[in-house]
Amino acid sequence: MSKSILILKGSPREKGNSAVLADQLFAGAKEAGAKVESVYLHGMDIQPCDACDVCQNGYEGCIIEDDMQSLYPKITEADAIVISSPIYWFTISAQTKLCIDRWYALECEEKKTLRGKQLGIVLVYGDTDLYTSGGINAIHTFESLARYVGMDIAGMVYGTAWQLGEAEKQPELMEKAFKLGAKLAV
Ligand SMILES: Cc1cc2nc3c(=O)[nH]c(=O)nc-3n(C[C@H](O)[C@H](O)[C@H](O)COP(=O)(O)O)c2cc1C
Repeated sequence: MSKSILILKGSPREKGNSAVLADQLFAGAKEAGAKVESVYLHGMDIQPCDACDVCQNGYEGCIIEDDMQSLYPKITEADAIVISSPIYWFTISAQTKLCIDRWYALECEEKKTLRGKQLGIVLVYGDTDLYTSGGINAIHTFESLARYVGMDIAGMVYGTAWQLGEAEKQPELMEKAFKLGAKLAV
């Protein structure tokens, strides 16, 4: 059966560098036979988790009535989730973090929705390397997250690109994104 992949795009730049790489990943996954959907988080109403803890105490889901309600079933049904984010202030973008915080409602004693799913990561930063850019902080976050919820990190694609259009001028980076898509599809 074909794999289903959900790509969460965390940049406000709809045609930005992380989005271009996410689209490459999409193409690689599609060509390899996966069912792929891409979501532009910046265009959605996603409120911050307010730590009401209702989701941890028997309520099935999150009580905040916003666009996460349509995203929860997609996350639940996906075999693989891909997060593509720019690095902002040495970590993931606020849009990405808002969404991930709300995954709280998918995880509690009785409910381990994310366990066993694949996780793909796409990160783009303006600085020259993973450390000075803060990309490493984002990677640590995803490693901790994956360990905690029991997801498997299938691969990460990251690199330097600042202005619009800089990622697509890097064939190696584009190829890596395409290949990660293909890997997630099998
Ligand atoms: C608010 C803001 C904060 C940024 N912070 C960082 C940073 O901490 N480290 C870095 O290397 N680049 C930083 N950048 C540069 C972006 O990561 C870079 O432009 C990247 O290509 C954006 O990806 P996108 O096109 O997918 O939005 C920042 C850019 C903005 C707008």
